[in-house]
Amino acid sequence: MPEPQINPWSSNQSVDVEKLFSDFGIDPIAPVIPELPSVPYFMRRGIVVGHRDYRQIAAAIRNHTPFHVLTGFMPSGHPHLGHLMVMKEVVWHVEQGGNGYVTIADREAHAVRGISWETCKEFGKEYLACLYALGFEGQTYSQSKNNRLKDLAFEAATKVNFSELSAIYGFSPETNLAHADSVITQVADILFPQIDREPAPTVVPVGIDQDPHIRLTRGVAHKLRMFTVEERHGFISVRSKNAPEQALDAVKAAFPDAKKYEGHVDIKGAPCSDVSAKVRLIERAHGGFAFYTPSSTYHIFMPGLTGGKMSSSIPESIISFYEPEATIRKKVMSGITGGKMTREEQKRRGGEPDKCSLYLLNLFHMVSDDAELAEIRRKCVSGEIMCGNCKKETAERVVAFLKDFREKMDAAAEKIEV
Ligand code: TRP
Ligand code: SF4
Repeated sequence: MPEPQINPWSSNQSVDVEKLFSDFGIDPIAPVIPELPSVPYFMRRGIVVGHRDYRQIAAAIRNHTPFHVLTGFMPSGHPHLGHLMVMKEVVWHVEQGGNGYVTIADREAHAVRGISWETCKEFGKEYLACLYALGFEGQTYSQSKNNRLKDLAFEAATKVNFSELSAIYGFSPETNLAHADSVITQVADILFPQIDREPAPTVVPVGIDQDPHIRLTRGVAHKLRMFTVEERHGFISVRSKNAPEQALDAVKAAFPDAKKYEGHVDIKGAPCSDVSAKVRLIERAHGGFAFYTPSSTYHIFMPGLTGGKMSSSIPESIISFYEPEATIRKKVMSGITGGKMTREEQKRRGGEPDKCSLYLLNLFHMVSDDAELAEIRRKCVSGEIMCGNCKKETAERVVAFLKDFREKMDAAAEKIEV
């Protein structure tokens, strides 16, 4: 069995973004950005790089039509700065009119990392405090407490077999059944807003490592539909996959120029979008899910201060929210930079911000003003500033940011239910 190329549970990933685009069918976000009425900094700055089907989300934002935004966190450790990006993406989409959902993936943490339910609860609360500190509004839940979610997971499981799981995740006969269960629960997470509220486009902001779950869910969403709607030459074909006969009759009856055949209805003189919308209503009226295939966005990872991924398993790589000031300063001051070996060389040739964990920390979270960030970059590249000073300035920003953020987290504590 070949190893899958993206493993959501591995912590040492280095991903080649271009290759992912070509191998897995993730599209670059750049061409879609002009379709948004306002461009968030994480797209402007090249942090969010890819997407699947994001155009339907951009359209919903522009047209003020319903859409959902959902992401999830596995409560296997304290949240840290590396988790802020997706949180901010969710908050931004809620501000744009989306219905916000956040799941605490305690089933996954318990099944995959062996974390006790009690500990999951404690970590889960911290994640939610961060979210509310960022201004999140919407629904939150823990997987293990959400019965409708678990029923949906079971339904989704009727559409997935073991060979698909091994192809996507490299699961083997030794893979624990609960691990597979946590995967199908995540599929249900992504579809949950559509049963909780209404079928609507849903965007799932994630890191690139989570794409296997997105691919699996998109497949399941499609398989759970009663109908497919396709544009053909001069007509629209509505095919039944597993629709009851009365539902197919209802499709025929809904359009004046429609012909019913064995297993499909062909419709003339109606735009595809109208047919899709009506077919969805009919599907729902006959007990179907009528899911929209979910969309996703992919952001690059903020590197850890030690170079690789920010990971709780390497304490020096991360900054978590309740660290003492002295530790924060120490970690920032010993972070990996894009500086040169000697002062002279750096003055002459400048530093390399794109390889610098501290520059990226500024780019991701510490400097909100684009002009200020551009100035840091200019001074670095031109050799005008040395790493020592630049680190000190960054440390001050991080300390100030965390002081303010902790206050907001504490204030949010009362909103939290897990
Ligand atoms: N698997 C995700 C992680 O490792 C957590 C998660 C659970 C999730 N359900 C989700 C992410 C739904 C996005 C959407 O962090
Ligand atoms: Fe990084 Fe600043 Fe050094 Fe440039 S000057 S490499 S941004 S620490």
